[in-house]
Amino acid sequence: NQHLTPYEAIGEETLSQLVDTFYSHVQNHPLLAPIFPDDLTETARKQKQFLTQYLGGPQLYTEEHGHPMLRARHLPFEITPSRANAWISCMQTAMKETGLEGEIGDFLLHRLQLTAHHMVNTIEPEE
Ligand code: HEM
Repeated sequence: NQHLTPYEAIGEETLSQLVDTFYSHVQNHPLLAPIFPDDLTETARKQKQFLTQYLGGPQLYTEEHGHPMLRARHLPFEITPSRANAWISCMQTAMKETGLEGEIGDFLLHRLQLTAHHMVNTIEPEE
């Protein structure tokens, strides 16, 4: 197992289930739903491509869309610290529901937390 990439350790099927479950939560989250399209089919397809390469699998995202430039691609959206936390919370729930736990789950969650934090581009509005 020590020779597997994280992508191979998780497996394509589990990764695909994870992403679909994740976006079903995003769609129902009051902070996230408003900034996402109503139809998340294409978003989920791109996210599967992205996470595949992020985890050491084939470079599917880059082959179709070019360099991810993830932070730049998120600049059109107001990503506040609360939204980053909400994103991670949806992901954490989806990971549990997909059975992605243990060492590989901890590894993935940690990396996603760093990436989510990096996406923050807007301070919290004062209310
Ligand atoms: C696209 C929000 C974090 C990966 C998007 C889109 C939104 C969004 C609104 C556009 C959806 C669309 O039009 O299809 C957020 C928020 C985050 C976050 C609120 C909270 C921090 C992340 C993280 C990753 C990620 C941590 C990767 C691990 C992507 C990818 C796309 C995307 C790959 C598709 C880019 C493309 O259009 O090619 N995100 N995102 N996002 N996000 Fe995020």
